[in-house]
Amino acid sequence: MKPLHHYAQNLLSTRLGTKDLCVLDQWAQDILIENDPRTEDIPLDSVWTADVDVDFGTPGDRLAVLRALAPAELLSLAWLSRITQPKTGHFASNLKLAKIYDLEIMAEPEASNPRERFRSLLIQEGLSLPEAKDPGFFNGHSSDDARLTHALLHLYLAHRAQRLFPELIGYTIAHFGRINSAWDEAMQRSERSRSKSHLICVEAAKTHLQEHDHSWRIHRGWKLYQMSYRLQFAHLNDQANAIPHRVLMSRLIQTKWPEAKGYHHKVMLQGDSLDSLIATHQEDLTPVLNRLRQSHFVDAACPVKSQLIQATHFGGPMFGVFQTKEQALMEAWISDPNGSTLDDPCSSALTSTAPSFPETSTESKRTPYRSYTYRSLYLNALSTESPLEASPEQKSLCLKILNQAKWWNRLRPFAALPKSYDAHVLTLWIEHRHHQSVEKAEASKTTPPIDKSFCRWLILQCAPAILTDGAWLSGIQTLEERIDTPTLKLWRTYLDELGDGHTEWNHPNVYRRLLDSQRIPMAAFDQPAFIEDPRLIDSAFRLPAYLMSVALFSRDFLPEILGLNLAIETSGLGHHYLSAIRALKAHDIDPSIIELHLSIDNLSSGHSRWALEAIIHYLNELDQRGGYALITNSWSRIRQGYASLSTAALPMATHSIAYYALSQHLPWLCTSPNTVIES
Ligand SMILES: [Fe+2]
Ligand SMILES: [Fe+2]
Repeated sequence: MKPLHHYAQNLLSTRLGTKDLCVLDQWAQDILIENDPRTEDIPLDSVWTADVDVDFGTPGDRLAVLRALAPAELLSLAWLSRITQPKTGHFASNLKLAKIYDLEIMAEPEASNPRERFRSLLIQEGLSLPEAKDPGFFNGHSSDDARLTHALLHLYLAHRAQRLFPELIGYTIAHFGRINSAWDEAMQRSERSRSKSHLICVEAAKTHLQEHDHSWRIHRGWKLYQMSYRLQFAHLNDQANAIPHRVLMSRLIQTKWPEAKGYHHKVMLQGDSLDSLIATHQEDLTPVLNRLRQSHFVDAACPVKSQLIQATHFGGPMFGVFQTKEQALMEAWISDPNGSTLDDPCSSALTSTAPSFPETSTESKRTPYRSYTYRSLYLNALSTESPLEASPEQKSLCLKILNQAKWWNRLRPFAALPKSYDAHVLTLWIEHRHHQSVEKAEASKTTPPIDKSFCRWLILQCAPAILTDGAWLSGIQTLEERIDTPTLKLWRTYLDELGDGHTEWNHPNVYRRLLDSQRIPMAAFDQPAFIEDPRLIDSAFRLPAYLMSVALFSRDFLPEILGLNLAIETSGLGHHYLSAIRALKAHDIDPSIIELHLSIDNLSSGHSRWALEAIIHYLNELDQRGGYALITNSWSRIRQGYASLSTAALPMATHSIAYYALSQHLPWLCTSPNTVIES
């Protein structure tokens, strides 16, 4: 395993691959095993004190404490950032935790945000640390890697929000149950807000426990938080005993040399071979280390790229010679020879102190499907827990539909967003289209000529999409320290789609009630029986498979998602929704799901307006960073995303029209929708 700071930094930028995630799974499993509390019974709502032996009173110690806390505090609650996914966003306990994330991290004003409060405390104490996403942020902690366990768990758990859900509840309860730390008081952590979030979290635990026997796993998460929190302070009082990297590096070479001598006569340092240099300076390797630092084997600007480090990787001449901790020391020596650490890899007393835990559940493992159809992509996207595990097939579906959208814009320029970007023109264009649609609805108040059986058939075919309503925004939450305005706008919309913390307001749940009221039985949407349902047409899965897939690549497709979001939120307003409501009412079918969207998506101050504002904010920020060229490129991608709703939904729309025409004029060619639905 590589050093923890490597994983932390790369999880922040979503640059890790599936293999790295597997390594982290094993790391987390080991920690969980050591924190398994099967025999203990801890009251869920109990509070605890950090109880660590550090003095926050003196300026020097205060700075050491703040530095130690910074990685985790600046990423506070990051573990909740993916707590609601298309597969889990309709469950009460997930919604409660999402509400906590909203209240603490996404709510305005920023003063209530714990990350902002910690940043203010750092500034107040004169500590200037880079933002967490800065490539150097975690590297600065490489010499005391185990202390990063807490921050790395924050980030890792966000990628395991399904399989480690009970642990994640316990982890959150422990976070809000922590009291009486001097630094919490200095941060002016509001007792009232802490207690409120604590209560919501305990409620989430109780709700979860009504259906699952996971009490011990919740407690395990609780212990995991406490252990990793305390680990941040390891050795904090022992700085005086710290050993400089150059001394540790000398020890390391001396330890390895007996088996290595004779192999380095071709490694030349300023005219002498490494073999001869070490033989000459065996007692004090300082001259050898100085020459090594000045050679081309060392790149102080980027330690990991140094030939010395590369030689220890797979395929290099020293692969397998050095352990992870030893490699970390070499990197630390390259970046700062006079820096210090207590962690001497040559000492057996300092083997890993990170504790561990039990096997992870396999309940959310992806369903293997060999041939990729829209149906299988739907099920696989639902089961994809982390964007790091998104498949090439999911990405190629996105690219295929977006490519079609490019052509769609050329074929139907009148329906495409304006060719060049201007915030005022865009706003007028959207408002004009909305007014046209409302006028059309007012001009034609007749009930659409569709019969009840066709309505019921359509309700069935829309199920795959509406049971995952909001999916296109399920990946916009970032692990980064600061959340930008466009992300906040998209998050607010996403939270509304999920019911803003209430299961009964959750759009997929509203649709479930409609299916029940129409006596249209369906298998659970995350089960193979759902996608194998013969009543459903293939194209019913195309749009939702695309929406879930594109969300898994939110960092890659952000402009496209902004355009897609605008299309989705504005598409039904006016004529379409009003006609559909009339049709449903005429057949005595509950129109709540459409009425709900008609109001919540409104262009005045609802989702459509936020979608517009998110695009304008996004492009304004780009303008400040890079100017016109960046805007032009992003605008064309936003236009493509906008059109992609049509290209993704087109096959189902075409199929529905054909089905309706056939059922009206050649009914013997169609199976009766009633028969199909009620079978
Ligand atoms: Fe919705
Ligand atoms: Fe909406």
